[in-house]
Amino acid sequence: MSIYPAKRLRRLRNNPIIRDMVRETALSPKDFIYPLFVIPGKNIKNPIKSMPGNYQMSIDVLVEECKEVASLGIPAVILFGIPDHKDEVGSGAYDPDGIIQQAVRAIKKEVKNLAVITDVCMCEYTSHGHCGVLDGEHILNDETVELLVKEAVSHARAGADIIAPSDMMDGRVIAIRKGLDANGFHNIPIMSYAAKYASGYYGPFRDAAESTPAFGDRRSHQMDIANANEAMREVEADIEEGADMVMVKPAGPYLDIIYRVKQKFGLPTAAYQVSGEFSMIKAAGANGWIDEPRVMMESLMAIKRAGADMILTYFAKDAAKLLK
Ligand code: PBG
Ligand code: ZN
Repeated sequence: MSIYPAKRLRRLRNNPIIRDMVRETALSPKDFIYPLFVIPGKNIKNPIKSMPGNYQMSIDVLVEECKEVASLGIPAVILFGIPDHKDEVGSGAYDPDGIIQQAVRAIKKEVKNLAVITDVCMCEYTSHGHCGVLDGEHILNDETVELLVKEAVSHARAGADIIAPSDMMDGRVIAIRKGLDANGFHNIPIMSYAAKYASGYYGPFRDAAESTPAFGDRRSHQMDIANANEAMREVEADIEEGADMVMVKPAGPYLDIIYRVKQKFGLPTAAYQVSGEFSMIKAAGANGWIDEPRVMMESLMAIKRAGADMILTYFAKDAAKLLK
């Protein structure tokens, strides 16, 4: 074994060509999944104040956006819907003519080379903003799962390519798998939000999706931020139930979880760089406190280096342009 002075680690950092040759991780537009928010109406593009460069879009605008996304080499979008009406049981979530169902049909009809992933949860559709049906202030697990199955099947019927349950109810993956299979969708993969933490980093998203809970929080179903071993149990359960891909969320502050999930299970692993992670970099960049494009790429590189195969990120378009 050689030691200094025979060994000099700086030798491989001496010039850009050698640095390039030994670089271990590379980002590509193919790594990204772009989240989009869809609302009813025509020709609408509402800026989301806390997420600069992101918009609530009506379907016509969304379709054009998706064409641009595909042309940048980004393989997939994930859709979040803001329905025109919310109720106690989130009927907009599984309405065959709901906002997501219409959006999926429009994109699949008009955009080639783009996978459409749909987020399956109830919180955008319930009047109280919770991720399921309530008994008083308690979210009912099994009753909620039944509705999630209806939601997932209706997304598949509309043409969704991948179903992504984000609710964190127990048993929803196996139930959705059975529901999809029973309706002829055995080829539609499930990307489960397997280790999803009760995080303060979701703040801007809740403005975007208009899904802030009217009371309480999401700690009865999303994970305690202090727990890592429990994340392994959550991921294992989802894999046993039939998840084809698993997700860790948030991403940047949870690189340890991404690393462990990838090492232990080896499944295609996604990480969600959430709204707060995005907005903090944007805000610091806008103030001139950090070099925004550089920190954007660094944040994405770190997530990939930790083991993520796919990154859901609001930076997808910016990063893809920079990589071209
Ligand atoms: C719905 C859902 C949320 C996010 C993705 N799916 C919000 C939440 O759990 O409150 C957050 C994404 C982000 O912050 O970018 N359950
Ligand atoms: Zn939810």
